[in-house]
Amino acid sequence: MDMKAKFHKLDQKTAEALKGGGADRIQAQHAKGKLSARERVNLLLDEGSFQEIGQLVTHRSVNFGLDKQHFLGDGVVTGYGTINGRTVYVFSQDFTVLGGSLAEAHAGKICRIMDLAMQNGAPVIGLNDSGGARIQEGVVSLGGYADIFHRNVMASGVVPQISAIMGPCAGGAVYSPALTDFVLMVENTSYMFVTGPNVVKTVTHENVTSEELGGASTHASKSGVAHFTAAHELDAIDQLRNLVGYLPANCEERPPALAYAPGNEQRPELDRLLPENPNQPYDMREVLNAVIDPGSSMEVHAEFARNMVIGFARVAGEVVGCVANQPAVLAGVLDIDASIKAARFVRFCDAFNIPLLVFVDVPGFLPGTDQEWRGIIDHGAKLLYAFSEATVPRITVITRKAYGGAYDVMNSKHIGCDMNFAWPAAEIAVMGAKGAAEIIFRNEIKGSGDPEATLAAKEAEYRDRFANPYEAAARGYIDEVIKPADTRAKVIEALRMLRNKAKALPRKKHGNIPL
Ligand code: HXC
Repeated sequence: MDMKAKFHKLDQKTAEALKGGGADRIQAQHAKGKLSARERVNLLLDEGSFQEIGQLVTHRSVNFGLDKQHFLGDGVVTGYGTINGRTVYVFSQDFTVLGGSLAEAHAGKICRIMDLAMQNGAPVIGLNDSGGARIQEGVVSLGGYADIFHRNVMASGVVPQISAIMGPCAGGAVYSPALTDFVLMVENTSYMFVTGPNVVKTVTHENVTSEELGGASTHASKSGVAHFTAAHELDAIDQLRNLVGYLPANCEERPPALAYAPGNEQRPELDRLLPENPNQPYDMREVLNAVIDPGSSMEVHAEFARNMVIGFARVAGEVVGCVANQPAVLAGVLDIDASIKAARFVRFCDAFNIPLLVFVDVPGFLPGTDQEWRGIIDHGAKLLYAFSEATVPRITVITRKAYGGAYDVMNSKHIGCDMNFAWPAAEIAVMGAKGAAEIIFRNEIKGSGDPEATLAAKEAEYRDRFANPYEAAARGYIDEVIKPADTRAKVIEALRMLRNKAKALPRKKHGNIPL
């Protein structure tokens, strides 16, 4: 064979691989509002940057007619490229090839890029669109999944791992995304569940659609499995590119900073933000938006546990992870979902050298049988644990209430926060003044001629003594009481001061977070 013929053969193979499952199946994919596996990769990565690995891999099965169905690439496009010039590894399942189903060769390709990502220290982005384990290949499919799960765990905390769900993701297949750091789902065209609507109907007699059971809005608002949702695939791809921009390539690096030109850092609008009545809500996002660089935020878990706001942002060009109670929802109370949501985010930020900026306005933990019986004790402890072991620079601003155990949990000085600020209206105490007065002055109130007036007087006494930041500042629990307008300037200086923080944890194999 002459060289020309050899080149021709290669061209033919490449063309065959690029066809995926063929024009008809790609058209069917488009008709569902979905892009093809290759279109997704090409849009996700900088133009022309994609380098494919394993394009000619095929399965080796002869079961159930598979010997007659060989598709180059075996239903997954894998390789690497850049997002804004920074290397990422990608796999993109091709639903047009055997339903994007996963078996030995398909899994092997994913494992290969995960290994490369780990060794070379760059994020892995998985674009999931698959009918699950390839039924014809039997147990090797299960083995393939487990090979991926194991690598997900090994890579956890080493390189960022991001999963986009862009089609079906069912059965045990959901566990790879669940083991990654962030899950993004596309509305109306993706779903995730361990058992689908038919099994649910048989076992529990519930009638539920795929969308209700495991669609994007379900997982974004009810289960918390999805951190982000996208209206359509192009939106999803934009969000993935944006997210990567906040993350370091691996756990040895700092997150990428942007240039910053110092300006007027005063934010006078914050002096007017708090309502006169401390029981009136306000939107903590207004505080966050005033303190961070304008327009620099990417909220995480926006629809889940809305009494806690978390997300990435930049302050003076540097990436920070923000964690904030949200007094506008359930008075900013800490409950199970809010604790879990914040704890996982704190651990991600700590793993990837992202300083934590925490805003506190919390009346305490949510009381009630529902919370107690579902284990608020353990779940609240997760947040306490996550903050306590975080060694990244940590800054807290108490804007208003910091009551009870929630004061301790929300990145207090005692559990390792580096710089604790409080606004003058802060109330740092064991409990609210009324409840406190009712307990400690019970006898005096009962025995007085006018219990109501006595209670009011005792409440005022308690408030004067404790419902302020000065008792905590006198003990050094608060480093500085600041005017709200100065918050951004103070945070910028503190971040700069803490930039080279080096703190090690005691030697151990690993801790035992209350899971
Ligand atoms: C092999 C599969 C497949 C699979 C789909 N296909 N899933 N082939 N193994 N798991 C094939 C179909 O046969 C079909 O081929 C093509 O992909 C497109 O599928 P359709 O059914 O036409 O598409 P659609 O109507 O969109 O339905 C998508 C679907 C459905 C809901 C995902 O295909 C489906 O229910 N598939 C089976 C899902 C499943 O039970 N998977 C195993 C789960 S157990 P043709 O040639 O006809 O076009 C599991 C365990 C993992 O995943 C364990 C890890 C620990």
